[in-house]
Amino acid sequence: MRKKIIAGNWKMNKTVAEAKSLVDGIKLELGDSTKVDVVVCPPYTAISAASEQVEGSQIAVGAQNMHFEASGAYTGEVSAEMLREQYVRYVILGHSERRQYFAESDESVNKKTIAALAAGLIPIVCVGETLEERDAGQIEDVITTQINEGLKGLDADQLKKVVIAYEPVWAIGTGRTATPEQAQEVHALIRGLLVKLSDEGTAGAVRIQYGGSMKPANAAELLAQPDIDGGLIGGAALDASSFIEIVKAAANS
Ligand code: 13P
Repeated sequence: MRKKIIAGNWKMNKTVAEAKSLVDGIKLELGDSTKVDVVVCPPYTAISAASEQVEGSQIAVGAQNMHFEASGAYTGEVSAEMLREQYVRYVILGHSERRQYFAESDESVNKKTIAALAAGLIPIVCVGETLEERDAGQIEDVITTQINEGLKGLDADQLKKVVIAYEPVWAIGTGRTATPEQAQEVHALIRGLLVKLSDEGTAGAVRIQYGGSMKPANAAELLAQPDIDGGLIGGAALDASSFIEIVKAAANS
C-alpha cells in the first residue's frame, strides 16, 4: 500500500512570523498521527523557521523550487545542498506557475529531479494540462511528454522515491476542481506511463498526488480514487484547520 502524502504549497505567502504560527497550528492539530506523510512548503525565507518549528512533530519541510547546479553564478537561485542544510526533505519541481511565469521546461525539471535525488531530497514533480490543451483533446500527449521528459534517465530505485503531482492548470486557484473521475483517469494514465518507464512494481510504488482547488469539502472523494495517493494543496494549506481536515480525510481514506 502506498502511504498517502499531503503537502501544502504555500507559494509566495507567509512571513516568518506567519509561517511559525501556521506550523504551530498544524502541529497542534496533527498530534502524533503517522498515518499520512505531511509536508509544508514555505517560501525560502521561512524555511529555516519552519524547520525549527516542526521539530518534535511528524511534519516535514519542502521547498518550492531549486537550481540543478550545486553552486555558482546563478543570481537568485538556491541549490539542493543549501536546502538540505535547512533540513528540507522535499522539493516541488516544475509547478505550472514556474512553467508559465519562469520558463521552466521539461529539460530543467529533469536536471533538477536528478540533482534533488542525488542530494537526498524527494522531488515532487508536477505535471498537468491547460484548459486549451484539455479542450483540444491533448491531455495524453501533454502528460506523456511531461512525464517521459521530466523523469528521463531515472532508474527504478530513483523513480520509486519520486512523488508526482497531477495538477490540471485550469483547476489551480480557480475553485474549479477536477471531478474524482477526471482526476483518476489522468492518474491512471500517469501510472501506465511509469510502467513503461520501469516495471509494474516500481510504478505501483510511486505516489501520485492531485492538486488544484483541493479543499476539505472535496478531499475525501478525490482521495478515495485508486490512483490518487495524496494532495498538493495551495489555498487551503494556508489555514491550519482546513489543511488538517484534508490530512484527516487522507488518513481515513
Ligand atoms: P490551489 O489549491 O490553490 O488550487 O493550488 C494548487 C496548487 O497549485 C498546489 O501546488
